[in-house]
Amino acid sequence: MLNINSTRLTQRLDELGRIGADEGGGVTRLTFSNADKEGRDLLVRWMRELGLTVQIDRVGNIFGTRRGETDQQPIMFGSHIDSVKAAGKLDGCYGVLAALECIETLNEQNVQTKRPLVVAAFTNEEGVRFTPGMLGSAVYVGDLSVDDAWNLRGFDGSRFGDEIQHVGYDGTMEPGAIQPFAYLELHIEQGPLLDLKRVPIGAVDAVVGITWLEVTVSGAANHAGTTPMDMRHDAGLAAAKIVTHLREIATRLGGHQRATCGMIQFLPNAINVIPSKAVFTVDIRNSDGEDLKRAEAMLVEFVQKVEAEDGVSIEVRALEHVLPVQFHPMVIEAVEKSAREMGLNQIRMVSGAGHDAQLMAHKFPSAMIFVPSREGISHSPKEFTPPDDLANGANVLLNAVMELASHE
Ligand code: HGY
Ligand code: MN
Ligand code: MN
Repeated sequence: MLNINSTRLTQRLDELGRIGADEGGGVTRLTFSNADKEGRDLLVRWMRELGLTVQIDRVGNIFGTRRGETDQQPIMFGSHIDSVKAAGKLDGCYGVLAALECIETLNEQNVQTKRPLVVAAFTNEEGVRFTPGMLGSAVYVGDLSVDDAWNLRGFDGSRFGDEIQHVGYDGTMEPGAIQPFAYLELHIEQGPLLDLKRVPIGAVDAVVGITWLEVTVSGAANHAGTTPMDMRHDAGLAAAKIVTHLREIATRLGGHQRATCGMIQFLPNAINVIPSKAVFTVDIRNSDGEDLKRAEAMLVEFVQKVEAEDGVSIEVRALEHVLPVQFHPMVIEAVEKSAREMGLNQIRMVSGAGHDAQLMAHKFPSAMIFVPSREGISHSPKEFTPPDDLANGANVLLNAVMELASHE
């Protein structure tokens, strides 16, 4: 069993984590921002220093290839390095930099794998600037065209195609040109399970489905003081009722059902004006595709009720529909075998967070490895995983990748 260099991994995570660091102790590297460009440039430099052949595809996905003894289909492993706002420094970056650390360890030990290895960093996994999230992997597997991606408008009004050219990551490689034999993604759990159970490794066998919606409520601006309560068409009140109802939907469906409103804006957004407009987002998830559809139907039904009650008109626009996936037994077993041979305790689990692996699973045998997140915290500057846990995950990744790379 090979072991990675934990100090080197932590140093790289710290160095990348300093790019886009904000004063609140978090990291913000939104897709194609200057900070994202700086992070991409650093990753490409590291890949080249490790002797990898670097290729960029037409939506900015970054690939670093290490030759194998044969030219058989490679093993691809990686994640993403874009972040949410005020993120931690592990989400996504850990999977990419652990993959780099695996490469460096193989170089040091002069180990040549039968199949080539490809380290991947996918564009716009988080979807905080441009929706849908997991965009780079969606284009990679053909679920979204390059043209449609290039014409996407961000929440800030910018155009994906302009921004990718602005940072110089409009590569020439056709997305999907590299057809991996298997795809493996190492990630922090971002939930409380492994931490609570004190288990170091999660062999992820499924990922929830995700639906993102944008809800626009149109009412009537009016005077906050003179307008009687029964004569209002209050877009703010209508929005607040719907946001509150999200919790009701999640409680009623139970299980893996989740429902979140992460963004909301009132117009004209003045203390003494009844809002004429409210725009907010909905993030609903479930490991059961049918229940996820049920949750969306329950929301739409409630929206119609509020429209009638408050005399407002409400438009619901889909931003993202990603199906739940089951991962491939061959890849899951490689993870479990690797953890077992390292004497690490492990459990099978479902991911509540979306990941590029769930898109890659549409076309290639895929699976994921989780390590614990302290108190389950993520998408927060408080995101933390102890170095030993990070090293365990990277070692399981290395040995699982080597196992897969030796497959016929
Ligand atoms: O939203 C998610 O689940 C992931 O962090 N992009
Ligand atoms: Mn992630
Ligand atoms: Mn994330």
